[in-house]
Amino acid sequence: MKNIKLISLLLVLISLNLAAKNTPRVQSFNENWKFTLADSATVASAINFDDTKWRTLNLPHDWSIESDFGKDFPASPGGGALPGGIGWYRKTFTVDKANEGKRIYIDFDGVYRNSEVWINGTSLGVRPYGYSSFRYDLTPLIKFGSANVIAVKADNSKQPNSRWYSGSGIYRNVWLVTTSPVHVDQWGTYITTPEVTENSAKVVIETTIKNTLNNVQPVKVVQELLNAKGKEVAKVEGMLNAVNGPSDKISQTLSVTNPTLWNIENPYLYKMITRLYISGKQVDEYETTVGIRSFTFDVKKGFFLNGKHVKINGVCNHHDLGALGTAVNTRAIERQLEILKEMGCNGIRTSHNPPAPELLDLCDRMGYIVMDEAFDMWLKKKTTYDYASDFTEWHERDLTDMIVRDRNHPSIFIWSIGNEVGEQWGEAALKDVDLQQANVLLNNRKVDNSEETKKGKLGKNALLTKHLVDITKDVDPTRPVSAACNGTGDNNPLFKAEAMDLIGFNYHEGEFAKITDRFPTKPFYVSESVSALQSRGFYLMPSDSMNIWPERWDKPFTNPLQKCSAYDNSHAPWGSTHEVNWKLVKKYNHIAGQYIWTGFDYLGEPTPYWWPSRSSYFGIIDLAGFPKDVYYMYQSEWTTKDMLYIFPHWNWEAGKIVDVWAYYNNSDEVELYLNGQSLGKRSKTGEDLHVMWRVPYTPGTLKAVSRKEGKDVLTKEIKTAGTPVSIRLSADRSTIKADGKDLSFVTVELIDKDGNASPIANQLVKFTVEGEGAIIGTDNGDQNDHVSLKKPERHLFYGKCLAIVQSTKNKGKIVLKATVEGLQSQEIEITAKQ
Ligand code: GAL
Repeated sequence: MKNIKLISLLLVLISLNLAAKNTPRVQSFNENWKFTLADSATVASAINFDDTKWRTLNLPHDWSIESDFGKDFPASPGGGALPGGIGWYRKTFTVDKANEGKRIYIDFDGVYRNSEVWINGTSLGVRPYGYSSFRYDLTPLIKFGSANVIAVKADNSKQPNSRWYSGSGIYRNVWLVTTSPVHVDQWGTYITTPEVTENSAKVVIETTIKNTLNNVQPVKVVQELLNAKGKEVAKVEGMLNAVNGPSDKISQTLSVTNPTLWNIENPYLYKMITRLYISGKQVDEYETTVGIRSFTFDVKKGFFLNGKHVKINGVCNHHDLGALGTAVNTRAIERQLEILKEMGCNGIRTSHNPPAPELLDLCDRMGYIVMDEAFDMWLKKKTTYDYASDFTEWHERDLTDMIVRDRNHPSIFIWSIGNEVGEQWGEAALKDVDLQQANVLLNNRKVDNSEETKKGKLGKNALLTKHLVDITKDVDPTRPVSAACNGTGDNNPLFKAEAMDLIGFNYHEGEFAKITDRFPTKPFYVSESVSALQSRGFYLMPSDSMNIWPERWDKPFTNPLQKCSAYDNSHAPWGSTHEVNWKLVKKYNHIAGQYIWTGFDYLGEPTPYWWPSRSSYFGIIDLAGFPKDVYYMYQSEWTTKDMLYIFPHWNWEAGKIVDVWAYYNNSDEVELYLNGQSLGKRSKTGEDLHVMWRVPYTPGTLKAVSRKEGKDVLTKEIKTAGTPVSIRLSADRSTIKADGKDLSFVTVELIDKDGNASPIANQLVKFTVEGEGAIIGTDNGDQNDHVSLKKPERHLFYGKCLAIVQSTKNKGKIVLKATVEGLQSQEIEITAKQ
């Protein structure tokens, strides 16, 4: 009898294993969804609901970005002036009969927001926070071998709920996960490198094994570490008797000799392959990316990576991808990170929410110092319907999930529990109702027994801070915890709690110099800085006159220009120019680095304006991905390659006095010539970051030459552009993958007979595409353009616009055609390869 049982168990295991081989563990679940933007659909969760009239689409999908912009959408210009609403998605699918007995999960990387998911008419749960990743177990309700229906409701109808553009819908990837009954749990490995030297590293792997069978399973756990070439460098195995439930953990240690360390220049990645065996048969295989590195934050000397000093030269970004809205596209994120790398940037702050996993994968691969941030608010709301009302019930789950999900990323160095949360303004700022909530929330978890608390020295907001730090440290004690505050006001409960490892604050440069006197044991970095305001291609002169807009944060501001100057002479009153801020961050060794607000312009928050503006002016790079001039200031400071950049353009009215700026490096001086005549040499002295000439305009050629010890280093010319006679199309990549996802970003300019691009052209460009591709977005960086960013036409804005072309799944040619009235159409060919 016993033998028969054993044999049948073995047979089950063998069949599970075979099925496992046929069905990949993780499959993309993005294709062929049905969608409707309506709440007609309370019955739409039912399995036999008729969705044939709904639109068919592939995820990730953001429905808000499909609209024209409008001033009356309840999100307001602050939220991007685009519609919210309620959207429904349905997908019909079959799971092979051979998978019966396996576990089937669905993983959502993110749904904005208030999602509810049903399988075959039964609700699996809700998730209010639009930035959290979550999993549902479909197994008990799946019908193997016949049709199943997943229905998802995303409710973004209550607006405003965000201070920036959030997007709406299933805007991140969805995965179907098929495993054996005994498997590595969701985000089930936790890999740390507690000892790292150049000669050796200790790698610790804690694996959480989920056993969904009713009896204890003896599991052999084998960990194999592969180097970047796929060669095994270390291996360890161990045994665990896995009981039913998710919490069985096994800890194993590997040692690696002569490890290649992860750093910014060479972000070297290993891979851990975790294999589970029962009775000698493999039942699961799970992969984790590993980077081996050590780091410290020092109070006096800043940040050290593998013992080497590194200044964090970072930027904050929101999650929209310009014309693509928030719909995740790996290539679009990669392009952003490439443009930033080229500038010398080495840090990303995921302001102010958990990011798409693809961003973190790319940061691992490309070498960024990431600050991963959980929340923009705690209990105190910032917009009427935001996450504050979900905070009490959900914060522990959302914060924990972010850290469990993200803690294996070598690129993450700082956890942030919040940005400028209202609780920072003191205990008195709490209303009674918040107090009650705070009580419930704190009592629900740990009782804080510290002396200060017992003596009643710490108020509720300080306790809340401690509580959030506790949650974070419970899940990952290897990284410092921080929050982005507005300065360090004496009554700030977040600092009073003394629970955070790093002092981080936004703006307040006046506090930089002496911060160590106030916090002698806590390292300091600038969590957010600058907030300069610029429209690409637009200049207010004289360039040394400052535009502080609005005059004070609470004062109204209007100006019919609806533009801001692209000299570094315009900023919000709480911020500074790029130069003022960088001089300070550069000067003080005790500043570990900074995250500038922002790398890219983003939809929403059109400070200092309101409608008709609908996107931000803060970016170093505009919404379309075209750098503003100050990009090159950073390039001159943050990279070592020779560079020289002069601006503005050279198309002005005769006689205008134009300020010509140059950013340069690796040289002692720059000489400027107008039509062959020298306008003099300039050298940066002291802390200077640029040089300037004040030039009465006459058309022609402006030429700059940088020199070191008398020898020419670089030459740059700008010419007055004549009447456009032709269209120039340039693709960032002319060969892309035929995978239905890859993108080519095509820039459009109008050129004169000599090939000079007009810096002021504003004509309408109409696009068509033929072959194996589609136009999925167009943009120009203009904060005041109200035409849907999905429309295949766009005005040039200060001489440029962009078309984004996506491949289909077929290989072949893609031909993009651009037409401008009065000019001959132009085509560009892109090849899609399998
Ligand atoms: C900061 C805030 C950011 C953004 C920025 C604009 O105070 O943290 O989210 O609003 O101001 O300058």
